[in-house]
Amino acid sequence: MLHITGTLTHFANPLASPTGVYTDVMKDVVSVEKSVAAIRDIKSWPNYQETPLYVLTSMAQSLKVAKIYYKDESLRFGLKSFKALGGAYAVACQLQLAVEAKTGHRPSTTQLLAGACKADVSDLVVCCATDGNHGRSVAWGAELFGCGCAIYIHRGVSEGRTQAMAAFGATVTRIDGNYDESVRQVDADAKAYGWIVVSDTSYEGYMDIPKDVALGYTVMLDEIVNQLEGEIPTHVFVQGGVGGLGAAVGGYFWDLWGVKRPRLLIVEPEQANCLQQSARAGEPVAVTGDLTTLMAGLACGEVSSLAWRILAVATDDFLTLSEEAIPATMRLLAQGFELDPAIEAGESAVPGLAAAVIARSSVDLSTAMGLDANSRVLVIGTEGATDPELYKTLIQ
Ligand SMILES: Cc1ncc(COP(=O)(O)O)c(C=O)c1O
Repeated sequence: MLHITGTLTHFANPLASPTGVYTDVMKDVVSVEKSVAAIRDIKSWPNYQETPLYVLTSMAQSLKVAKIYYKDESLRFGLKSFKALGGAYAVACQLQLAVEAKTGHRPSTTQLLAGACKADVSDLVVCCATDGNHGRSVAWGAELFGCGCAIYIHRGVSEGRTQAMAAFGATVTRIDGNYDESVRQVDADAKAYGWIVVSDTSYEGYMDIPKDVALGYTVMLDEIVNQLEGEIPTHVFVQGGVGGLGAAVGGYFWDLWGVKRPRLLIVEPEQANCLQQSARAGEPVAVTGDLTTLMAGLACGEVSSLAWRILAVATDDFLTLSEEAIPATMRLLAQGFELDPAIEAGESAVPGLAAAVIARSSVDLSTAMGLDANSRVLVIGTEGATDPELYKTLIQ
């Protein structure tokens, strides 16, 4: 059987609600109904293309499961991660609101793209804290829709990722703290300078814009549902940072498929496992310190409050994954396992797949997660080589 070395810790969520109803409180964060406008809009943007959903047949045979589906976000809008969908969409929504407040007329994104509102948006500045991918999306959206952009990064963000944001014309400021400190810093500076915070995480007093970010992600989920052609997976493994992606996946599938939805397994780095720790505590708790991990996109110590509304009950299993599994899984995908296609997958793309592989090599973990020969496993390869230099080193 295919083997990846690594350690998984498993926490079965005592508050999981597999037969419960998807409530209005959760629908307020993400719902199929609310996703319709975001999906229609983003699909009309220039260069929109559906990303592939691969069926990894050789891997499924080796792991003795029925199916492994891999959604490959390495090609998303040329930005190389699913995050391209959320930040840029939320930027467009904010500019539409600002123009409407000023002129009484809400422009379409097509009008924004054509520069029809240049005079009203060019002086606006959107900003965010990021460990790379969200900031790249916000910076790209700002360039696309015609406003200014300020990005705050923490001490651990690589030079490659920094350059990628600056390439879209954003001003990038590095702070001497971790991700959560950069979130607080940009919030304070935005208040001082009159910037619009477009964050993928939510916190007290900041609960609206991250809903648009999550709705942007539903484009990917809508594509997955169409590509599955009627089949519903039994398990979906999702990487967790602040939990925004997991909440979008868990919420959308719950609203769409009800009790037939897949079991949701959230995978985090050992050093930045705020979601698992929050589940253990029964309420959001912060993980502090350097949050050092190869999985740069998941180096978050504080849960998004909005995401937690969904994740607290939608998540069936909270997992942590040790670091050594990451390069091995990236290499496995880069080479292509047996007859499976070769796939470019970055450090934060592979934890879900790594967790599924490691779980299958343990009877106890497989039993705990309900994985068996009938399982249809969906994993989301959330990024490609977003730091090309590091990628090259890791897959050697
Ligand atoms: C590639 C990648 N995967 C997964 C995630 C996790 O998303 P979230 O922070 O919404 O949980 C991130 C976050 O930046 C990411 O960049």
